[in-house]
Amino acid sequence: MLTLEHPPFLTDLLTDAQLAEVIACFYDAVYVDEQLSPLFEGVPRRQQEQRLAGFIRMTRGRSNPFDGDFLRSAHARLALTPALFARRTQRMTEAITACGHGPEVVSCWRRYDALWWRYIRGQ
Ligand code: HEM
Repeated sequence: MLTLEHPPFLTDLLTDAQLAEVIACFYDAVYVDEQLSPLFEGVPRRQQEQRLAGFIRMTRGRSNPFDGDFLRSAHARLALTPALFARRTQRMTEAITACGHGPEVVSCWRRYDALWWRYIRGQ
């Protein structure tokens, strides 16, 4: 049974193929987004898709998926702001919905990304 203490993880709600599909749809939008695309200049699109999907699968089942310096250093050169993060969240929500998934997946993904934001900001 799912409880608040043990909320579903993204990989409980999506198969690997569905996860890959949402991420592809998400980067379709990100790589042409006027605010987000400049940050991905020079970052190979397919590699980026695989890294995000691989990271999410790797953190399956962890209550706090973010630790160590690995992801902090991956984002250190970027001037991330709350507005950019909100923009990314909007694009991700649109991608999840466009792939036919409902509010449970949206809120699960938002919870995951909110943990990432706290981790990146060292909170
Ligand atoms: C506004 C928010 C974000 C922006 C603009 C952003 C941008 C980027 C960029 C440009 C890279 C490529 C870095 C490089 O290759 O030099 C990257 C890598 C990555 N990002 Fe983000 N990111 C954001 C949020 C997130 C979130 C919420 C996650 C969730 C886990 C995430 C996971 C990753 C992963 C796994 C990599 C690959 C790291 C590696 O293997 O080197 N990012 N991101």
